[in-house]
Amino acid sequence: NGRFGACLMAEPELVAECIAAMQQVVNIPITVKSRIGIDDKDSYEELVNFISKVADGGCHTFILHARKAWLSGLSPKQNRDVPPLRYDVVQQIKQDFPHLEIIINGGISSLEQSVELMQGVDGVMIGREAYHNPYLLAEADRLIYQQDTLIKTREEVVFALLPYIQEQLAARVRLHIIARHILGLFHSVQGARAWRRHLSTYGPKAGADENVVLQALELVQG
Ligand SMILES: Cc1cc2nc3c(=O)[nH]c(=O)nc-3n(C[C@H](O)[C@H](O)[C@H](O)COP(=O)(O)O)c2cc1C
Repeated sequence: NGRFGACLMAEPELVAECIAAMQQVVNIPITVKSRIGIDDKDSYEELVNFISKVADGGCHTFILHARKAWLSGLSPKQNRDVPPLRYDVVQQIKQDFPHLEIIINGGISSLEQSVELMQGVDGVMIGREAYHNPYLLAEADRLIYQQDTLIKTREEVVFALLPYIQEQLAARVRLHIIARHILGLFHSVQGARAWRRHLSTYGPKAGADENVVLQALELVQG
């Protein structure tokens, strides 16, 4: 009856119980993603109380979306933008819980910003920007993990995806199910619109196959 999502921040004991119960039956870590507060329960002390109790339940990793949520008054979509970002609160949590893994989330739009934010926490989670502009991640191995891997061009990414597309088509997955996740691949480069338009027009049609992707690529390359 609606007891899921951010409202659970008001019930740290219940969340701790859930974590403990889940952790008992799996051998992978159970992590928690939360806001930094909800409604009028948005003091730092309340956040500390939530994290302490849930950590006691057996959670070692917290992904904190660095803004509060207004459960009444704002839609889920508005709640992703309207409440101001408070990276400082998440960084303070890491200071106060150095033994926990604290991942910061919310409004992060570049790897440079990620590197900067990672000074004070253990990691970053990028949501919308990674979806709208996935090529942003091309340099992640180099910038975040200091790995000297070759950076694929956008075109090389498309070619690298082809075997997967073919495999999925053979398993009767529709092209669009895959193609819609690469609509943003050419974000901010010339031809981006033609790429998107071709994939969204022809991707959903019956019988669409990898040639639709290759045709879209030709449009970008002009
Ligand atoms: C369409 C959409 C659906 C989302 N659904 C969830 C969800 O079910 N659970 C959750 O914890 N966060 C959800 N989020 C929030 C994201 O995980 C993330 O916390 C938020 O978008 C802020 O990060 P960003 O600015 O990097 O996107 C959703 C975001 C979007 C755009």
